[in-house]
This record gives sequence, C-alpha cells and structure tokens, in this order.
Amino acid sequence: MKITVVGAGAVGASCAEYIAIKDFASEVVILDIKEGYAEGKAMDLMQCASLNGFDTKITGSTNDYSKTANSHVAVITSGIPRKPGMTREELIGINAGIVKTVSENLVKHSPEVIIIVVSNPMDTMTFLAHKTLDLPKNRIIGMGGALDSARFKYRLAEALGCPASDVSGMVIGGHSDTGMLPLTRLATRNSVRVTEFMSEERLNEVKEATKVGGATLTKLLGTSAWYAPGAAVSAIVQAIACDQKKMFPCSTLLEGEYGLNDICIGVPVIIGKNGIEEIVEIDLNEEEKAKLQESAAGVSKTNGLLN
Ligand code: 2OP
Repeated sequence: MKITVVGAGAVGASCAEYIAIKDFASEVVILDIKEGYAEGKAMDLMQCASLNGFDTKITGSTNDYSKTANSHVAVITSGIPRKPGMTREELIGINAGIVKTVSENLVKHSPEVIIIVVSNPMDTMTFLAHKTLDLPKNRIIGMGGALDSARFKYRLAEALGCPASDVSGMVIGGHSDTGMLPLTRLATRNSVRVTEFMSEERLNEVKEATKVGGATLTKLLGTSAWYAPGAAVSAIVQAIACDQKKMFPCSTLLEGEYGLNDICIGVPVIIGKNGIEEIVEIDLNEEEKAKLQESAAGVSKTNGLLN
C-alpha cells in the first residue's frame, strides 16, 4: 500500500517514521516544497531501516506530485505551525491556501485517495477539503481527536498513577484550546469509571490540562508538538491500511448526526479500509450535548473566515 505524507516538517516526518516502523505500508512518499528537504528526511529515515527492521520504502519529492500517484492514503501536514501564545485558528490565513492547493494536487494524481487532514485549524481545514474536492465524505478525515484523546489518557494516567495502557478515554468536539470535550464521565481505568478513583476537582484539572495540551507543549517547545501528532495520525493510517474497524474521534462532515449539519468536528467514527465507515452516535448527557453545540459554534465561526 502506498501512503503519501505532504509536509516534511516535524509532524510529517514523525508520521512517516511511525508508519515505516510499524511496517504495514509498502511505500511512503514524503513531499515538501522546500528544495531537497523531503528527499533528505526520506534518506535519513531509510538509513534507519536496518536498525529498526522495516522494509517500507520511503522516498522524498520536492513538490512533484507525480511521485505521489496512486496513493491509497495521503496525510496533509503542510502549513505553518503555531508559535507560543497563538491559537490554531490564527493559522487559517496562510494554511487555507496551502491545504486547498495540496488537496487538489493529491486527488489529481490519486483519484481514489483517502485524505487525512492534520494542518490547523484542523476542523476548518477538513471542511475546506470537502468544499474543494468532490470526494465522498468517508474519504476525508480530520485528525485531532485521536491526538487529544492520547493527551487525555496521559493526564488521566498521571493523575491515577497508572500506565496509560490501563486507561480509556475519548475527546470529541473541535480541535481547539476552548472547544475540546474530554468525556470524563465515560473515561475508565481498566473498565472501572475513573470517577471511582478521583475527585471531581481533580478530574476537572485533567480535563482542563487536556484542552490546552497542545498550547502547553508549544510554550515549552517554541513550536507545535510533533511526536504525538505524528503517532496519532499514523494510527489512523494503519486502521485504514489494515482495515482495522477501530473507533477514533475524528473530524468528519456531519449531516444531521449529533444535531449538526454542514460542519466538520470531532465525533466517534469507525475507521477501516474505506476511511470513515460509520459515524457512531453515542448517548451524551444534556451537559455534553450543550458543550458539543458550543464547540460547533466555535468551529462554524472559524469556517466563516474561509473566503
Ligand atoms: C497539536 O495540538 C499540532 O494541533 C496539533 O499539537
């Protein structure tokens, strides 16, 4: 299976590295506009093949989309990352034009491609991809909730003093510092509700730390994070490539689900060989429903900035 990763920056290169190490794809093409950059990243990664034991062939291309032809999945990480103090929404002015052009070039060379959008503001960039491309909705996926849920599980494990593998939790809503909705009511430690182990106050601290997880790292790193974003999107690529029928919270075009229309926002979906194979409508309580509507209003406001 052939995977394309557009953007040879930290997130794209991390995604390509995780895909290669998991060794489920025959080929990964990394594409970037910066002369030689994708080729260099690909060569550096290929020199890990004998050390990390993978056979995936990684190549790089400087803005030659013919090299991405017939890709099954394409990940869009291109655009600028945020700096400390910035919101993801502030990136729209530059990233919208990039995502539009990249999407069009990808589909021109891979008409059957499944696109995963990572570039921020991610929910709006996913919506832009829908408006730009005439693809069925199952083939355009926004990656944000998988990352936010990983951060949620990290914070829960930290609070519980247990391994993250013992924790289950999901974040839905917009991939934004204010719009995320960590589903604390449903989170569990090995099937036991986490509310059995911690106070409401401590759980609220976990929720708030999750929501600003990206901003916290941007402040520490001076730029957006890359390891967890790369790992999160590689897990979605793997679910497609291996037809895993795994459930992730992903940004997807809603047409009435959760009482929302004509918006891309994070909700639970089943990911398999056809991309988004099912949108899962879980029972939310009244507070969660209200929070999701509030989050959607924020995403719609950002969508309104698209010209
Ligand atoms: C993050 O939250 C880049 O939006 C991504 O780290």
